[in-house]
Amino acid sequence: MKQHDLSDTSTAFDHGAVSRFNAWFFRTFDRYINHIARRHKDAAFTDLTSREVVEIGAGVGANLAYLPDGCHLIAVEPSRRMHPGLQERTAAAGIDLSLLPHGAERLPLPDASVDEVICSLVLCTVRDPSAVLAEVRRVLRPGGRFRFVEHVAAPPWSPRRWLQRAIRRPWAWLFEGCTLDRDTVTTVRDAGFAQVTLRRERFRRSAFIPVNSVIWGIATR
Ligand SMILES: C[S@@+](CC[C@H](N)C(=O)[O-])C[C@H]1O[C@@H](n2cnc3c(N)ncnc32)[C@H](O)[C@@H]1O
Repeated sequence: MKQHDLSDTSTAFDHGAVSRFNAWFFRTFDRYINHIARRHKDAAFTDLTSREVVEIGAGVGANLAYLPDGCHLIAVEPSRRMHPGLQERTAAAGIDLSLLPHGAERLPLPDASVDEVICSLVLCTVRDPSAVLAEVRRVLRPGGRFRFVEHVAAPPWSPRRWLQRAIRRPWAWLFEGCTLDRDTVTTVRDAGFAQVTLRRERFRRSAFIPVNSVIWGIATR
């Protein structure tokens, strides 16, 4: 059985003002983001009944409302600036939190040990999305599910794709690695899950045009 070292927090980060900005941004805008993404999150996180859920890139807790009552949340979140908000909000919601300050490329969890892994707006940002999905698949029990809502590359030759390319560098700097034109559809489909249900959509009347090519889905191990 494989399990990475829990004490190895070398992938945790704090980029000072930029990390502080991101913690502020997601704390300030998460109601708005949840509003425009509501249809997608309702669909992806529906019937989440497991008493233990792993969330990768949990941020300041945008998805807490989707967790069942009495749930134990194992939050994998490498940004130290996100931790106070996440701890405060899980405490207020009465959610039992285990916070793992790690990048999800190496999950400090045993093989086949969880039933549900969720994430939103994270595969755009992680350093190595294929490695993250390999780890997600490793820690899921057979039949376990990975539920996701992500922004992805806009269709080729569309004005939005042009915009994504034009601003990708400053965007990645400001949002700590967020890559606007990532082909996450292919990454999920190639990750070796037994079944993948995936829909391509748009957020509802979103002001965030560069990130308005969206997928949500459920991949079953
Ligand atoms: C765009 S934010 C989304 C936060 C939250 N999921 C939400 O929907 O508001 C991306 C999150 O992924 C986290 N992240 C960055 N690199 C990561 C990695 N390698 N593994 C896991 N999470 C990571 C960031 O710290 C940040 O909290």
